[in-house]
Amino acid sequence: MNKADVIWMNGEIVPWEEARIHVLSHALHYGSGVFEGIRAYETERGTAVFRLRDHLERLKDSAAFYYMELPYSLEKLREATHELINTNKLRSCYVRPLVFRGYGEMGLYPLDAPIDVMIGVWPWGGYLGEECQHQGIRCKVSSWRRMSAASFIPQAKATGQYLNSILAKVETAKAGYEEAIMLDEHGNVCEGSGENIFLVGGGEIATPPSTASILDGITRRSVIQIAEDLGFRVVERDIARGELYQAEELFLTGTAAEVVPVREVDDHALGPPGEVTVAIQSAFFEAIQGKRDEYLEWLDFVEPDAAEPLKEPVRISRAARQ
Ligand SMILES: Cc1ncc(COP(=O)(O)O)c(C=O)c1O
Repeated sequence: MNKADVIWMNGEIVPWEEARIHVLSHALHYGSGVFEGIRAYETERGTAVFRLRDHLERLKDSAAFYYMELPYSLEKLREATHELINTNKLRSCYVRPLVFRGYGEMGLYPLDAPIDVMIGVWPWGGYLGEECQHQGIRCKVSSWRRMSAASFIPQAKATGQYLNSILAKVETAKAGYEEAIMLDEHGNVCEGSGENIFLVGGGEIATPPSTASILDGITRRSVIQIAEDLGFRVVERDIARGELYQAEELFLTGTAAEVVPVREVDDHALGPPGEVTVAIQSAFFEAIQGKRDEYLEWLDFVEPDAAEPLKEPVRISRAARQ
């Protein structure tokens, strides 16, 4: 992975190489952590973090689901994120806050274990590859179902829960596909291993509802708003697996992947990115670059630390730079 110079850990800025934890930390053994994935983009007005407050709110909610109270206010975490981006002199980057049960207690009753918080930032280009945003990706429905709300809390972005996504991702990657699509416990379409899914067809854009065990993606929320502003009808409804094969267009959304067209599912060709997908994708990329006034409220601008010049920008997706 790419590196940066420093990390924020429990209120301190520490050198990247020294951001360490004890091997008997609770979260390492039981997956007792919650996290966020956020992106900061270069805009003409400087670096802006995309929907930082919304992400931090979701972090707080995820923590609460697992009986963890954040030891820092959201404003403190926001300031720490800004400070980190400045100190690491990054124009654009990925931002990863993690709240986890630390060292001190073992066993499945976690409430006496300490709560540690870290934030890391580093340069990270297109998650599924830059070309994918233009050409679309090949997906396969995984044999692994997305976790059920009877066993986990799907709307929590919790570390241990990602073993479910990892199974699906590895299975489909080994089969030669770029991304997994997971069904929910009822066999309806749920989401990608790390993205929400949208299906275009019959004059509407459909996406599974939150009752389908999805993570309530921040990109999903943004794309719903953009689609509606563009005049499309968006419905949250159950989607049957077979609908994927007859979709006019299909695309995935997520912080890491951004907006990615799907050109093939289970070896059924859907064709190159369609016009609805491209319209939404273009508006999204303009929004994250600060080129759309109506979405400026999504951007949390980082006040530059004027003392030192910024590092060269990280290559974000080609579409984002158009
Ligand atoms: C399982 C899962 N679903 C959906 C998403 C998309 O969420 P967001 O748009 O907030 O990144 C992610 C990424 O965070 C994810 O890990």
